[in-house]
Amino acid sequence: MAARLIDGKAIAAEVRDEVAAEVVRFRDRYGRAPGLATVLVGDDPASRVYVGSKRKGCEEVGIRSLHHQLAVDVEPDHLLAVVAELNADPGCDGILVQLPLPVSLDSAAVIAAIDPAKDVDGLTALNAGRLAQGDRAALIPCTPRGAMRLLAATGVETAGATAVVLGRSVLVGRPMAALLSAADATVTLCHSRTRDLAAVCATADILVAAVGRPEMVRGDWIKPGATVIDVGINRTESGLVGDVAFAEAAGHAAAITPVPGGVGPMTIAMLFANTLSAARARAPEPAEV
Ligand code: GUN
Repeated sequence: MAARLIDGKAIAAEVRDEVAAEVVRFRDRYGRAPGLATVLVGDDPASRVYVGSKRKGCEEVGIRSLHHQLAVDVEPDHLLAVVAELNADPGCDGILVQLPLPVSLDSAAVIAAIDPAKDVDGLTALNAGRLAQGDRAALIPCTPRGAMRLLAATGVETAGATAVVLGRSVLVGRPMAALLSAADATVTLCHSRTRDLAAVCATADILVAAVGRPEMVRGDWIKPGATVIDVGINRTESGLVGDVAFAEAAGHAAAITPVPGGVGPMTIAMLFANTLSAARARAPEPAEV
């Protein structure tokens, strides 16, 4: 079986177009563009590239980009003061502190300092709790939100499906499992201590891999006809590869995301969608005339 390729670039372009159109409406209504602040600590090359793409994309969809570049040895209090300043800035609707932070900083404390109304990563306890409770006010982490959009755009039925999520990170695995469960899939959330991972994966109608281990998921782990969403982006000597051995898996799956060009573009597109959602939720109703 030759799997259908899920074209994340094309679907992300649709999301960006939708956001751009809604940004125009927002500006007409409120007289300002939504604003997204990025905070980058240190000069990790990969993080620089990611933040650069986010800032460039903001311009393309009409979102105002604010950026704070901080030194790798920034004082924790200074970083917290930057977050507090952004929390108080009425023109800033979303705050993204690029992760990972240097180990000398307490990431949990920094995330907890972000106003949940501006938490476009969906990482604060309030937004994670809202998602767990099925509260529509939740800001949802961008990668899982993007993965759900890929499933919808591919016409994959989630209701009643068996879904397996590999990796239980706060940014991807856990919210992905919550979203699939909310979409009426039967979900298994796997991790490094899961026994007989291959056999668990082989039960999946929908398999989401988010473990950060190059090509760990092999072709014979895939149930024939499954949909495979590969969240991994691993730099290897032979280039970027996902968590799934693509060529092998494509011989079993009905549909699969490539790396690059699958989930990656969706993560950035959903960041803009989240910024728009946050801006709308924060906006006052226009004055009555
Ligand atoms: N680092 C890698 N992915 C992400 C993301 O989605 N959000 C943040 N804040 N940092 C990241």
